[in-house]
Amino acid sequence: KILILDFGSQVSQLIARRVREQQVYCELHPFDVSDQFVRDFGADGVILSGGPNSVYQDEQWRAPQAVFELGVPVLGICYGMQTMASQLGGAVEGSSKREFGYAEMRARGHSRLFEGIEDRTNAEGHGLLDVWMSHGDKVTELPPGFKLIGSNESTPIAAMADETRGFYGVQFHPEVTHTLKGKEMIGRFVHDICGCGHDWNMPDYIEEAVKRIREQVGDEEVILGLSGGVDSSVAAALIHRAIGDQLTCVFVDHGLLRLNEGKLVMEMFAGRLHARVVHVDAVDQFMGHLKGVTDPEQKRKIIGREFVEVFQTEARKLRVGGTEAKWLAQGTIYPDVIESGGAKNKKAHTIKSHHNVGGLPETLGLKLLEPLRDLFKDEVRELGVALGLPHDMVYRHPFPGPGLGVRILGEVRQDFADLLRRADAIFIDELRAADWYDKTSQAFAVFLPVKSVGVMGDGRTYEYVVALRAVQTQDFMTAHWAELPHSLLGKVSNRIINEVRGINRVVYDISGKPPATIEWE
Ligand code: XMP
Repeated sequence: KILILDFGSQVSQLIARRVREQQVYCELHPFDVSDQFVRDFGADGVILSGGPNSVYQDEQWRAPQAVFELGVPVLGICYGMQTMASQLGGAVEGSSKREFGYAEMRARGHSRLFEGIEDRTNAEGHGLLDVWMSHGDKVTELPPGFKLIGSNESTPIAAMADETRGFYGVQFHPEVTHTLKGKEMIGRFVHDICGCGHDWNMPDYIEEAVKRIREQVGDEEVILGLSGGVDSSVAAALIHRAIGDQLTCVFVDHGLLRLNEGKLVMEMFAGRLHARVVHVDAVDQFMGHLKGVTDPEQKRKIIGREFVEVFQTEARKLRVGGTEAKWLAQGTIYPDVIESGGAKNKKAHTIKSHHNVGGLPETLGLKLLEPLRDLFKDEVRELGVALGLPHDMVYRHPFPGPGLGVRILGEVRQDFADLLRRADAIFIDELRAADWYDKTSQAFAVFLPVKSVGVMGDGRTYEYVVALRAVQTQDFMTAHWAELPHSLLGKVSNRIINEVRGINRVVYDISGKPPATIEWE
């Protein structure tokens, strides 16, 4: 396995993704872990990430010295290369010229890292590589024992190696796709240089995870809040595979779910997987508490609070009925866990503030079972498929915890929710039919509680508006509105207005994020 030390680059998580794509297990940890941690980790190789700092400005932003004493290969990327150079006796200098973006690098000499993976060769037969750079500082003097293995005009030492020790440094970023042969380089490092096998794959992972869950839980009972979302569904399927009826899922219908969501979840988990699922109809309770509330944050708070309330009541009922859960299972995934930025003294375990079932562990006093903690989203999806969950469930767009509660602007009402559900289902249906669903990251309808005039037949109508939202994004931090074909939008609009009595106008949201957010509230 590979240990990745994070110096705070924006793309550190990508390094982990690239390594796992090579079917090699890896973990990302802050750079300031102790020497002892590094020694105990048992790495076959270490990767030092990039980061925003300067090695000569902050003495503390260094790799634990143990990294260079383990006797395993080390790859330093960007800042990682600079700290490697500096810690091993080379020199790093700032420069007035920042290099950012695409660059062509010439491979020099022979190195295991680049051998045979150039993009092209120049007239003299030297290998040339298309790489992506983002740096100001650079290595200006090789540490003792190192040789030059890559350079270009602006960065004379763009890559270096001490092949006897298996130490490599690259100034560019092999983890981003703009470095065309980045994947091959990472593969070369983890397989050929570190000697890792291809042993991180889903079937094996399931077997190990099942064993681990059984060991952890023993004969105790587990309770899980099933939302119908990808993470909780996959966690439920995995835990059920491990411990069967020791798992009880609680599915809370708060009246703000998508069309048929409850039915589909019950069919899948209770029907096909034969899992124990308690379906709680809490619609009246939620609607009652939301009555008259228009402030979005207030609505979120109420929905979150009521969720905990309902969940607790169910847990208590189960206890009376003889099921005393000792464990609370959650679909926490790796990006929820790892801190980005590698900031000092900020340890892991930060769960998203709007995590659906946040707050549950403290109030319930249960032990936490989080079997997806070391998986990335796409791995969770792969796992879901391997566990037999339907493709459509596993590749679904994200859905916010407060559900339609933040897609009905202003006061949440049951009749509004019913209209919105139907409009939303039509939109999603048509997106799927037109093969646009997988080309968008998130798509949904929003209910606007304003009435406008329309005509239908000979009559005049005065009814509500629905807005359609579809966005494309990598990380949901920034997003573009999707340029859906006009014919598709037209069809969706027609169907909604014809089929959903109460809606007579449909508009399409063409705002980017920023400045707009993806949700309307
Ligand atoms: P915004 O609207 O902030 O949304 O651009 C970014 C992503 O976060 C989701 N989102 C939420 N998820 N509880 C959640 O579980 C929430 O309160 C919440 N608000 C926004 C949103 O759907 C999008 O994917």
